[in-house]
Amino acid sequence: MELKYGPAFNLLQWSEQNQDKLTPPVCNTALFPDGDYIINMVGGPNKRTDFHCNPTEEIFYQIKGNAYLNVWDRGQFEQIRLAEGDIFLLPAYLNHSPQRPEAGGLCFLVEKPRAQDQKDHFNWYCANCATLVGSVGDHVDDLVADLPSAFKLFYDKSDAERTCPQCGEVHPGRKAGEWLQRFAEVHNPAYA
Ligand SMILES: [Fe+2]
Repeated sequence: MELKYGPAFNLLQWSEQNQDKLTPPVCNTALFPDGDYIINMVGGPNKRTDFHCNPTEEIFYQIKGNAYLNVWDRGQFEQIRLAEGDIFLLPAYLNHSPQRPEAGGLCFLVEKPRAQDQKDHFNWYCANCATLVGSVGDHVDDLVADLPSAFKLFYDKSDAERTCPQCGEVHPGRKAGEWLQRFAEVHNPAYA
């Protein structure tokens, strides 16, 4: 028998041996890069300011540690807790920003390959008033390779270009600590 993707292996052991691949900005690496499914292990700690709008659904299985998704839905911020052991199916097109505060955290993430005409969007919202400040649309083939270049398009913008058109607050770009602190001050979220 020839197994295209090799024999079964212990996922926790693999994760321990591949910690160096679970590093920011997304902390993810593909388990089976040539397979039909997009299967990523996602490590931690990691903080992000982008909100991902995916044209397809995402399965999260939070194996180790606790995490949460900041969510933007119809002009409002909300949060979804991913406690250790939780499984969660994220609907398509729900703007989500995964936050992984714990070192050694581990999430098993399954996504669908995008159709050729489908675009993901990465959106950045004002921490004060939740207005859209920037957006990058990109056809995603590879979650590991394609995201950093999409993020860079927003992070390389000037302060003036990252200024909220509604309230005038400057979005701090890649500085997730600053964005999350301001978000916590204004919105008093359950998880921070
Ligand atoms: Fe604003």
